[in-house]
Amino acid sequence: MNGEFLPYEQAVIPVEDRGFIFADGIYEVIRVYGGKMFRAEDHMARLQRSAAAIRLPLPLSTSNLLQAAAELVRRDGLDEASIYLEITRGPAPRTHTFPAEVRPTVVGFARPVSAPAPNYIENGASAITLPDERWLRCDVKSVGLLLNTLAKQKAVEQGAYDALFIRDGYLTEATSSNAMAVFGGKIYTHPLNNLVLPGITRKVVLELCDQLGIPVVEEAVPAAELVRADEVFITGTVTEVLAITTLDGRPVGTGKPGPIFRQLHAAFVRYSRGQ
Ligand SMILES: Cc1ncc(COP(=O)(O)O)c(C=O)c1O
Repeated sequence: MNGEFLPYEQAVIPVEDRGFIFADGIYEVIRVYGGKMFRAEDHMARLQRSAAAIRLPLPLSTSNLLQAAAELVRRDGLDEASIYLEITRGPAPRTHTFPAEVRPTVVGFARPVSAPAPNYIENGASAITLPDERWLRCDVKSVGLLLNTLAKQKAVEQGAYDALFIRDGYLTEATSSNAMAVFGGKIYTHPLNNLVLPGITRKVVLELCDQLGIPVVEEAVPAAELVRADEVFITGTVTEVLAITTLDGRPVGTGKPGPIFRQLHAAFVRYSRGQ
């Protein structure tokens, strides 16, 4: 935190930190496989992009940030982990305008994490669709995640694993992952614009599709078409690649994870674990 490695209890921030008061901050979550950060440079590029979008000059270089993150993992002795990094516009008396002198708060912590349970890989997960009521800069990895948390909570309360967001009649993404649907052997996923996060896992999966010769169309799927999808799956740093086999209480395709999901999941596991 702010250049020091601290015991968890000692890592505290002032109550008027703008991250706490205004959600005036950005973050990244990086997966660690076998003690090594996965696609760290992509995460740093996205962090820089998010920082620029909220006009927050990064107080340290991304290489210093990555060094600190690597040291965190080393000190915590974690092989399979997620690293959470957050940078806020720092503490200042509460007023909407930026402080004259910004002292950003930089915090990182690591947590042990494991791949989704085998049961989820084998059988897939269920999701509900919900209206996407988030802001119009979903491409920015902002800490303002209230609508995402409300949607996830609603999904879980209805016995589902996650929610898929629908905006203006089209599927955008899930609460903490990107979404893809398969029709006739082709993958459809929302194009990168202001309505979805440019997911690193999405990027990796599209690279794998290219290598495997699986056609991809970056076009938004009409929500009304989802009942006809052969497969639906989501992609995210912690989620990896996960099939959605029940949507709004109805089976997707055969109701089992489909062949394209299985091929991509296997390729993703091989690639992320460096095999
Ligand atoms: C809203 C949203 N979309 C997509 C993603 C997936 O991004 P990534 O693959 O970089 O984890 C996330 C990840 O946290 C997310 O919060």
